[in-house]
Amino acid sequence: MKIITVANNKGGVGKTMQCFQLATYLAHKGKRVLVIDLDSQANLSSTLGVNVNRTLIPEWLIGDVPFEDIIVPAEGEYDCFDNISVIPSSRHLANLSKLLILSENEVRKDAGRKERLLKLRLTPIKGKFDYVVIDTPPMLGDELIMSLVASDHILIPTQAQDYSIDGLEELMDTFEIIKESENPKMKFSIIPSMVNARRKIEKSRLNELSDMFNVAPPIRNLVEMQESISMSKPIYMMGKRSKGKQDYVQLWESLGLN
Ligand SMILES: Nc1ncnc2c1ncn2[C@@H]1O[C@H](COP(=O)(O)OP(=O)(O)O)[C@@H](O)[C@H]1O
Ligand SMILES: [Mg+2]
Repeated sequence: MKIITVANNKGGVGKTMQCFQLATYLAHKGKRVLVIDLDSQANLSSTLGVNVNRTLIPEWLIGDVPFEDIIVPAEGEYDCFDNISVIPSSRHLANLSKLLILSENEVRKDAGRKERLLKLRLTPIKGKFDYVVIDTPPMLGDELIMSLVASDHILIPTQAQDYSIDGLEELMDTFEIIKESENPKMKFSIIPSMVNARRKIEKSRLNELSDMFNVAPPIRNLVEMQESISMSKPIYMMGKRSKGKQDYVQLWESLGLN
């Protein structure tokens, strides 16, 4: 079971988009996929046809609720949805950090440290899924840190038009610290998302980015990507000429995610 987290402490960079496209792509290939939505906005949950009033993620992490009680099947028009299970989010997840503090004693007994809770809960279900795809909120909080500790591979969508290399460097420094202390095997991939390569400024920033980091093939800024999300229609279901489909297939193949 391979655990993949999509992370960036900035909002609106394409994290949820990437999770949706990756989960549906892997499911289409016949893989059993578990999606964990750790963003209290719950956009990914609703794109996967799942809406809950109150998520039980905090209770599951703390150990009060078993795994079986928090997974829900994805629902959608396409066959691939049959291979996707979801641990859905809701607004209630915004209280996670407070709840973890209140349960500190239980957490210590179980995981030692709260950063290790998600890893601890995923270990017993290793045989049930081929892939776990985790969406995270746009901040460096408990949700993101415990995902980093639990994951094999971190995908970092980065907007080319307004990214600041400083911001990304800072984020990567934090990731490196977690890698060294908690998860030495963790891999990172920086993925330019929503690229408009016809704009000179973006092209030059993309080059700058490639000079500093090992950068994966970019995803273009395309109206069909927005349509894909709003209709819950995976991009690989679009026709052969779809640029979004070409970009994503190239990306997943280059990352060995297929
Ligand atoms: N490649 C793309 N082309 C065009 N629009 C995109 C693309 N990727 C994402 N978007 C749109 O940009 C917005 C932010 O994307 P989202 O995945 O929600 O970001 P995040 O999860 O990082 O906040 C959404 O409206 C989404 O539909
Ligand atoms: Mg999001």
